Amino acid sequence: MVMLRPAIGMGLGPWQVGSMKGSAVLITGASRGIGLALASELARRGWRVMAGARDPAGAHGLHAAAQSAAPGSIEILPLDVCSDHSVRSATEEAASKLRAIDVLVNNAGVLPEEGNETLEELPLERFAEAFAVNVVGVARVTRAFLPLLTAAPHPRVVNMSSRAGSVSRKEDSRHYCYSASKAALNMLTRAMAAELHPRGVTVVAVTPGWVKTEMGGPQAPLTVAESAVSLAATIDRVTPGDAGRFLDRNGSRETTAW
Ligand SMILES: NC(=O)c1ccc[n+]([C@@H]2O[C@H](COP(=O)([O-])OP(=O)(O)OC[C@H]3O[C@@H](n4cnc5c(N)ncnc54)[C@H](OP(=O)(O)O)[C@@H]3O)[C@@H](O)[C@H]2O)c1
Repeated sequence: MVMLRPAIGMGLGPWQVGSMKGSAVLITGASRGIGLALASELARRGWRVMAGARDPAGAHGLHAAAQSAAPGSIEILPLDVCSDHSVRSATEEAASKLRAIDVLVNNAGVLPEEGNETLEELPLERFAEAFAVNVVGVARVTRAFLPLLTAAPHPRVVNMSSRAGSVSRKEDSRHYCYSASKAALNMLTRAMAAELHPRGVTVVAVTPGWVKTEMGGPQAPLTVAESAVSLAATIDRVTPGDAGRFLDRNGSRETTAW
């Protein structure tokens, strides 16, 4: 059986703080929301950002961010995480431009329900919609980009999870499909971490906080910029000792629970 590196209590290592300048990151779902803010923040920190968008022509905020960032620091990559063809094309385009990808942020996500539906009211197709993006999409993108990830010296995969994916803290019936898909993403994170850790790839799940986006709604306490600043710092500090961990945006395990 493949064991995760123990590392209990090791926390985020200081050895790479700020050392990722010039590294390459691919962010899925960067057309808006947290993905867009994270693309801007990492570019501001000197990263080379491949910003995935399933409809680049409609990603106006992303085009504006690419124009205001340092030249060439944000490149827009057509990428629909639900399409094998799109993901294959994206890997080919990325490989033509980059020798390696240091970090993959699986950020693209959907919340396909209202949230307050009863079990009897819930259209069951919503489960498939949530899982297609939030779980299968992550597996599809991660395996497609493995050759570019394993070409990097310290590759990481950061899966954008949610407190809604915590099984042990679930005490209401809201967001059946989204919650179940994020719990599944957490399990996918653990499984991928176990398989990929021996190959040098560190896989973690991270929560961004409750953030003002189309998904998070206007009542959320955090702006996308606030969330992105702390997420960027955490991504920068993830080490192999964090493999298989569920972290909050500040890199702590104290506020998250499987
Ligand atoms: N906001 C929060 O409070 C919160 C809390 C916990 C976790 N999260 C997680 O954080 C991540 C980002 O959330 P957000 O709040 O920024 O959501 P958002 O504003 O709704 O943005 C979602 C992003 O995912 C993209 N996307 C959806 N389906 C896709 C597909 N098939 N292929 C590629 N991209 C796709 C969207 O692209 P289009 O523009 O093309 O639709 C958009 O860029 C999600 O994984 C979410 O579950 C958010």
